[in-house]
Amino acid sequence: MNPSDITPETEQKLFFHNYARLPLAVSHGEGVWLYSNNGTRYLDMLSGIGVNALGYGDKRLVHAISAQAAKLIHASNLFMMQPQFELAEKLISLSGMSKVFFANSGTEAIEASIKIARKWAAHTDNLDKKEVLSLSNCFHGRTYGAMSLTAKAKYVDGFDPLLPGTGMIDFNDITDLERKVSEKTAGVFIEVVQGEGGIHLLSGQFIRRLKELRERYNFLIVADEIQAGCGRTGKFFSYQHVDADPDLVCLAKPLGGGLPLSAVIGSEKVADVLSYGNHGTTFGGNPVACAAGLAMIEAIEQDSLMENAGRIGKFLADELQKLASRHAQILDIRHCGLMVGITVHREAKYYVEKALGKHVVINATSQSVIRLLPPLNISREEAQLCINVLDEIFTEETAEKAG
Ligand SMILES: Cc1ncc(COP(=O)(O)O)c(C=O)c1O
Repeated sequence: MNPSDITPETEQKLFFHNYARLPLAVSHGEGVWLYSNNGTRYLDMLSGIGVNALGYGDKRLVHAISAQAAKLIHASNLFMMQPQFELAEKLISLSGMSKVFFANSGTEAIEASIKIARKWAAHTDNLDKKEVLSLSNCFHGRTYGAMSLTAKAKYVDGFDPLLPGTGMIDFNDITDLERKVSEKTAGVFIEVVQGEGGIHLLSGQFIRRLKELRERYNFLIVADEIQAGCGRTGKFFSYQHVDADPDLVCLAKPLGGGLPLSAVIGSEKVADVLSYGNHGTTFGGNPVACAAGLAMIEAIEQDSLMENAGRIGKFLADELQKLASRHAQILDIRHCGLMVGITVHREAKYYVEKALGKHVVINATSQSVIRLLPPLNISREEAQLCINVLDEIFTEETAEKAG
């Protein structure tokens, strides 16, 4: 296909209409910069929706992928493969947990966790213990189980019937938590930092009460770290900020260094739940993706990128506060490391289009929230460029209204 045919019109012809793509065809990247087909560079404050933790073109990652691809691209889980073993060992050492299951996407990690929670509950004496709960405003994925735990109408409308035995607790509402969990609860799924929901942080009090209720009713706490994990918030797992002590942890997005890979990590409590054939996937734990994941985690450690995420996240939040004092369009700013949410007075899509026109990629989520998920190795100067562009856009919007 001729590159000039990569247009929104051809996209409409070729694909189901389930993605709201930006009108931009991209060819390659370098550091935090993403290049369009015609060679224009864009400051990427979204990093492939939180995937490209190392930005673009990291040599260690490229080397790990090509070296493993040259050796073995796929063999299946009928065999033992070194990259899988090494990545599993690394995740166990980072989490202090016990067992790992690899899949390909975030939603698959959630599906596996729902199944593990129910199977674990089936081993208790309580035959009614089947209920799987999540929190309002959450996002856990789009396959049936994950979608049944997901709050927003836009993701679930028209897909009835959803998975039975699911329910939702109001986010950060301890009274509702106390009302909803019971002996029937098998698992409670949480995002310590809600990503798609607009960057909302779960409170320490809510987590403390959740853990107390786990003691009383014996259920599993499942931490969805798909967006917030792998160092983005300044710690490897976002639950470490609030000592959530989960029984299951789901990772994906950056885990495969840009290749499809997800993981469920389980504590000793669930270590023996699955038996042969209970669950599996042909591609899960692909050796190239695992080699990439290992190289990505080693690079995060070598380059102190968790510290950088904490530092630059704070810098962005401080600078945004200064903007908020001058621009009434900014209603609220929330962040945890390099997960940044800016609530604005109108649909955030408006700002995404304006920023793209100024060669900066930002994202809109939850209608009126601008979301920033830049690569973890973004510098202060690059972060400042984003602030300058947002400042310009807000200033121009005000001038337009006045004129
Ligand atoms: C918190 C969270 N959970 C689950 C998912 C689903 O992951 P995937 O799109 O890889 O299926 C996402 C994706 O955005 C997510 O942010």
